[in-house]
Amino acid sequence: MPAPGSSLSPPVRIALGERSYDIAIAAGLLDAASAWDGLPSASAALIVSNTTVAPLYAARLRAALGARYAQVHEVVLPDGEEHKDWPTLNLIFDALLRHGCDRRTVLFALGGGVVGDMTGFAAASYMRGVPFVQVPTTLLAQVDSSVGGKTAINHPLGKNMIGAFYQPARVVCDLDTLATLPGRELSAGLAEVIKYGPIHDLAFLAWIEQNLDALLARDRAALAHAVRRSCEIKAEVVGQDEREAGLRAILNFGHTFGHAIEAGLGYGQWLHGEAVGCGMVMALQLSRRLGLVDDAFAQRVTALIARAGLPTVGPDLGADRYLQLMRVDKKAEGGQIRFVVIEAPGRAGVRGAPDELVRQVLADGTR
Ligand code: NAD
Ligand code: GLY
Repeated sequence: MPAPGSSLSPPVRIALGERSYDIAIAAGLLDAASAWDGLPSASAALIVSNTTVAPLYAARLRAALGARYAQVHEVVLPDGEEHKDWPTLNLIFDALLRHGCDRRTVLFALGGGVVGDMTGFAAASYMRGVPFVQVPTTLLAQVDSSVGGKTAINHPLGKNMIGAFYQPARVVCDLDTLATLPGRELSAGLAEVIKYGPIHDLAFLAWIEQNLDALLARDRAALAHAVRRSCEIKAEVVGQDEREAGLRAILNFGHTFGHAIEAGLGYGQWLHGEAVGCGMVMALQLSRRLGLVDDAFAQRVTALIARAGLPTVGPDLGADRYLQLMRVDKKAEGGQIRFVVIEAPGRAGVRGAPDELVRQVLADGTR
């Protein structure tokens, strides 16, 4: 039997000068010594996880890190998007201070995007910055949130409104962890995989269409390709625009509408990926109404989103409420909402749109 992680394909590199790092993608990495070689040295590590993921994987990570760090501490957060907030973030600082952790301490985010975003923000701010490693265990986190250094917590008035850009020292994607992911969460992750097609890579869009059943069946090779190609595209975009001065905003395709759904319904009602999937349908309809793409392309991507098990009709919050929530979006400028639209199949851009057009999209796309 091969050793865990022995069939390692080369990591995907995020090229950001002195903040560059690798994304390792393979099955069995949690138990592979090579996955943890060369990390920043320190006397202590802190594993940050949650009540769902810690019982599944923390012991294995702890064993792997025990060979490298004299002390391996652990903090277990409550699970859920509704806990991506100040009181939960504080639990990480409480643990760091209680254990007397110094500024070399390395944080390990073991979980999905919620744990990853909060651990990254804690790492960015504890003693003005300590190293951290992303160990994503959801498809969504492996293809998107663990990569690129966006860290944040939510505010009741707006999603991910308080945070920092802070890059991890490494990302370790153990594909085996996806075996325990609930089906609804797998679908949510597929929303962010599908996203990369219409905004950047039509060949990848076609590949997803052909391999969606395999992805839903958790075929190992299909998942490996989806994670790798998604990370490659994200690396390309983030490498050009780390702090979202321009290009990086295209990665927020579907997110302006999606964040409004999440905040409007109350965090945790719809999963982030579900809101993004539905938000992409709305953004496609806006692109169509702006005369940028034809209905056939909008319907093609919408059909894929539906096949992935994601909602394509949004909740009826009322157009006024959607508009109010979308004005809190980070892309908004001077109170004007800016949307990621598909400029042409395979290419995205950011632009404003008349409220009237947005209202038409919402009238047709919510129920
Ligand atoms: P999540 O972190 O809430 O995880 C989803 C659920 O799956 C949770 O209940 C979690 O405990 C559980 N889980 C995680 N791994 C598991 C496993 N292997 N087996 C069984 N259960 C498991 O949600 P998510 O979809 O991973 O991430 C969504 C979050 O990511 C949102 O807060 C979103 O804003 C953020 N995000 C951030 C970025 C970024 O660039 N930083 C990008 C996209 C999304
Ligand atoms: N998920 C969007 C970004 O990382 O920019």
